[in-house]
Amino acid sequence: MLQKTIHWFKAVDDVNNIHWQENSMCVIEVNDTKITLALNKQSIHAFAYKCPHAGGIMSEGFIDAMGNAVCPVHQYRFNLKTGRNSTGEDFLKTYLVEIRDSALYVGFEEKNWKF
Ligand code: FES
Repeated sequence: MLQKTIHWFKAVDDVNNIHWQENSMCVIEVNDTKITLALNKQSIHAFAYKCPHAGGIMSEGFIDAMGNAVCPVHQYRFNLKTGRNSTGEDFLKTYLVEIRDSALYVGFEEKNWKF
């Protein structure tokens, strides 16, 4: 049976101190891992720093009108929640996000097989 364990790390002490505009992205480092944060429709999303296709820096792309993160290199579009590419070829790694007492936490999933 596949068991998932989530390890939560505080990424930002106070989300109110993040000064960004709707549909913008930024890079932070959490648990020694660079990740991308995006603000879309009042929700914060966290996903991989680099595109799974050929390593484009996702934060240098943009969020399109449908709410997809668009890679700057070949313009692949990834769903912010699922990471699914609009053509189904690649998945962008996404991370869980929670806000607790104004602090932003990012969850790293660990999968273990238990027999
Ligand atoms: S490197 Fe991102 S779409 Fe090709």
